[in-house]
Amino acid sequence: MKRFVLLGALLLAACNKTSAPAPEAAKGGPPPLPPYQMRAEAPTGDRLAAGGDGAKLYSNHCGYCHLPAGMGTNLLTKQRMMMGEPPENGLLTNRKDLTADYIKSVVRMGKVAMPRQTRVDITDAELDAVAAYLTKADK
Ligand code: HEC
Repeated sequence: MKRFVLLGALLLAACNKTSAPAPEAAKGGPPPLPPYQMRAEAPTGDRLAAGGDGAKLYSNHCGYCHLPAGMGTNLLTKQRMMMGEPPENGLLTNRKDLTADYIKSVVRMGKVAMPRQTRVDITDAELDAVAAYLTKADK
């Protein structure tokens, strides 16, 4: 009987340990969101007007796949590394070889795992701004 009581006490102690708060909770608050979930708000105003903010439009319309840790970034990182390039080239913003025409055609037609984006997803004017941003030398 004594042995069972002892065993019970040991079990209780073990259970108490597992229900201790997780380290992040102890630090106060949940862990930070991954970057692709913190993309910029969509700019307000006329979506058909030229001259939009390419960086914000890119972050909002492409960021959930192409910001760090997004699935587009993950796939492209692997592709670029297989071509002997540094992993940073998985981010479209680090690429020097992309032309505006290529970007626009990938966006409208899709490419392998990337679904094509319609003019509702991103208007022609917005896409022009994004392509101009991605091909700028100093992003
Ligand atoms: C739903 C996720 C998703 C969205 C949204 C998305 N992409 Fe992609 N993109 C991908 C994936 C995945 C790939 C890699 C395709 C492959 O080769 O498998 C890719 C590839 C590309 C490529 C080709 C890169 C190369 O090396 O050939 C370009 C350019 C591109 N995306 C631009 C954009 C732009 C600009 C936007 C926003 C208008 C956008 N993408 C939105 C997932 C996405």
